[in-house]
Amino acid sequence: MANPGLSGRECRYGVCTTMSSNKYELVNTTTGKKSVLEARSGTVGPDCISVAGINKDHGVFTFDPGFMATAACESRITYIDGDNGVLLYRGYPIEQIAAKSNFLETAYLLLHGELPASSQFEQFDRSIRYHTMLNESLLRFFNGFHYNAHPMAMVSAVVSSMAAFYHDSMDNNNPRHREIFAHRILAKIPTVSAAAFKHMLGQPFVYPRNDLDYCANMLNMFFAVPAEDYVVDPVAAQALDLLLILHADHEQNASTSTVRLAGSTGTNPYAAISAGVSALWGPAHGGANEAVLQMLEDIGTVDNIEKFLARVKDKDGSTRLMGFGHRVYKNFDPRAKIIREMCHKVLSRLGQNDNPLFELALRLEEIALKDEYFIARKLYPNVDFYSGVIYSALGIPRSMFTVMFAIARTAGWVAHWQEMIGDPAMKIGRPRQLYTGPTQRDYVDVDKRG
Ligand code: CMC
Repeated sequence: MANPGLSGRECRYGVCTTMSSNKYELVNTTTGKKSVLEARSGTVGPDCISVAGINKDHGVFTFDPGFMATAACESRITYIDGDNGVLLYRGYPIEQIAAKSNFLETAYLLLHGELPASSQFEQFDRSIRYHTMLNESLLRFFNGFHYNAHPMAMVSAVVSSMAAFYHDSMDNNNPRHREIFAHRILAKIPTVSAAAFKHMLGQPFVYPRNDLDYCANMLNMFFAVPAEDYVVDPVAAQALDLLLILHADHEQNASTSTVRLAGSTGTNPYAAISAGVSALWGPAHGGANEAVLQMLEDIGTVDNIEKFLARVKDKDGSTRLMGFGHRVYKNFDPRAKIIREMCHKVLSRLGQNDNPLFELALRLEEIALKDEYFIARKLYPNVDFYSGVIYSALGIPRSMFTVMFAIARTAGWVAHWQEMIGDPAMKIGRPRQLYTGPTQRDYVDVDKRG
C-alpha cells in the first residue's frame, strides 16, 4: 500500500488477512497497528473491501493504477462475469435482450431498471421521436469543421455545445430536468452523428423523420439524398438495432467512468457525455472497431495471417491483434458470439455471403484461438472484432464506427449519470496518487542553473 507522505519510497504497510467472511484485518507490520476492514457483498460477484477509512486509520492510500482491483462505485445497472462470459443488463442476460428486445426498450430498461409496460414504452418512444431535431444554430456548427475532420471530434464538440442551448432544463438536482436531458440526448445523438457524417461527405443534411423508428430514422439521415428516394432496408435497420443493443452498456468501462468522474463535479450532463465520447475514441476502447477494419485491410489475405500474428507476438513490437482481449472477459465476450452469428445472417441477407473481410476475420480468429500466445493470456475476440464487418456491409464508413458505438453507449452513459446524480451520497471523484517526484527544494535563479 502507498504511504502518502514524502517518505513513501518504502512499503511499510502490510497485509490483509481474512477474519471472517466479510471482515479483513489490515496490519501495519512495523508498528503492529491493526484495523478491521468491512467487506460489502453485492447481489452477485466478488465482495468489495471498503478501504475509504484506511487513510484516517493508517495514513496510507491504496495503489491500483488501471483500477485492476478497484470498484469505483456501487451500481445496479449492468453486471459482467468475465470468467464465465456473462453480461446482464438490469439482471437480464444479453442473449435474451438481443433476441427479444429492441434498442429503445433496452435504453428504457437501463434508465429505469425495469422493462416498460407497453403504455410506458409508447410514451418513451414518442418522447424520443419528438426530440430528434437539432437547433438550427447547432447544426451550423458543422460548417466550422474541415471536411476531413474525424466525426468523433465533431460529435464530442457538438454534444458539449448542446449545453449552450438548454439552460431551461439543466438543473442537475431536478429529477424532471434530468429526465428531459436523458430524452434529449438519446434522441439527438443520432442526428448529431448523421450531421457529422453528411458534413464529411459534403452532402446536405437530412432532417429526422418522426414516422420512422430509431434505427430506420438513423439510416435515413445517413443515406438519404435529395436527388432520389431512399427506402430503408429493414434488414439493415434490424442489424443496426442489434449492434446498438450489444454496445448499450458495459458497467464501469473507461468512457462510463469518465462520464461519472466528470459528472461528479456537478458539471452539466452534456459536458459529461462529451467527455465520455472523447474517452471512447481511443483504440483500446471504442476506437478498436475502426482499428480492426484497418488491421484486416492491412493483412489483406489469409496467407498473410501467420506473418501478422508473428508481429503481434513479437515482444519488442507494439502491434496488437485489435478486437481481441478484454480487461474483464477472460473467456468469450458474449457480445462477440452474438455479433459473429449476426454477421452470417446479415451478410447472406444483404447478398454478401463471400464478404472477404468476414472470411479473413473468421480465419484470423480460428488461428489465434489455437495459438499458445493467445491461449496463455486468455485473449478472445471482443465485441469489436466483428462489428466493423457489419457496419461496412451496411455502407457505414470506417471513421464512423466509433460514432456508432457512441450512439449506443449514450444509453449506458446516461443511465450511469442518472444513477450517480440521483444518489444523495454522491461525492466528487478525487483519486489520490503515489508521489515519486522531488521532495521540497528551493527555487534556483536562472544564472545559477547548471
Ligand atoms: N493483442 C496481443 N496481445 C494482447 C492483446 C491483443 N489484442 N491484448 C492483450 N495482450 C497481451 C498483452 O501484451 C499482455 O501480454 P504480456 O502479459 O506478455 O505483457 C497481456 O495480453 C495482458 O494485456 P494487458 O494490456 O495488460 O490487458 P488489459 O486488460 O490492460 O487490456 C485491452 C485490455 C482491451 C486494452 C487489450 O486487450 C487490448 O489492447 N486489446 C486490443 C484493443 C481492443 O480490441 N479493444 C476493445 C476492447 S472491447 C470494446 C470496449 O469495451 O471498448
